[in-house]
Amino acid sequence: MKRVITYGTFDLIHYGHINLLRRAKALGDYLIVGLSTDEFNWNEKHKVSFFSYEQRKELLEAIRYVDLVIPEENWDQKSKDVKEYHIDTFVIGDDWKGKFDFLKEDCEVVYLPRTPEISTSQIKAELKGSDN
Ligand code: CTP
Repeated sequence: MKRVITYGTFDLIHYGHINLLRRAKALGDYLIVGLSTDEFNWNEKHKVSFFSYEQRKELLEAIRYVDLVIPEENWDQKSKDVKEYHIDTFVIGDDWKGKFDFLKEDCEVVYLPRTPEISTSQIKAELKGSDN
């Protein structure tokens, strides 16, 4: 069984996320999502998600491509996760291109093209700007 892992915040799930998860799952048989915790988002990325970790986790678990959701709590856990979960392929959008090449020691690393013209930040900005 080929095991794939990806990481992210996946707040306000949108079709860019679904596209990423569908293509990630297609690279193997079992897809794990390392989901950024609220603390990690705040401490490291200085952002607050609309939905809490538990809500984002529930939403991801309802998606047919996702087999397991684990917490992403720091930048350094990826190498450990790859070994612990016997990962064959690490995958992430190409906004991170080159950033995780150090994982190539332990697994295949794939950067998938992002879906154009959609992001959580954009949705938040548009909602903020609307009167509804
Ligand atoms: N992603 C994608 N296409 C998009 C948006 C996101 O392929 N249009 C991918 C990212 O590259 C990443 C994963 O989805 O691998 C999770 O991204 P995340 O940062 O949670 O979503 P964004 O919409 O990019 O959020 P933000 O605007 O807050 O950065």
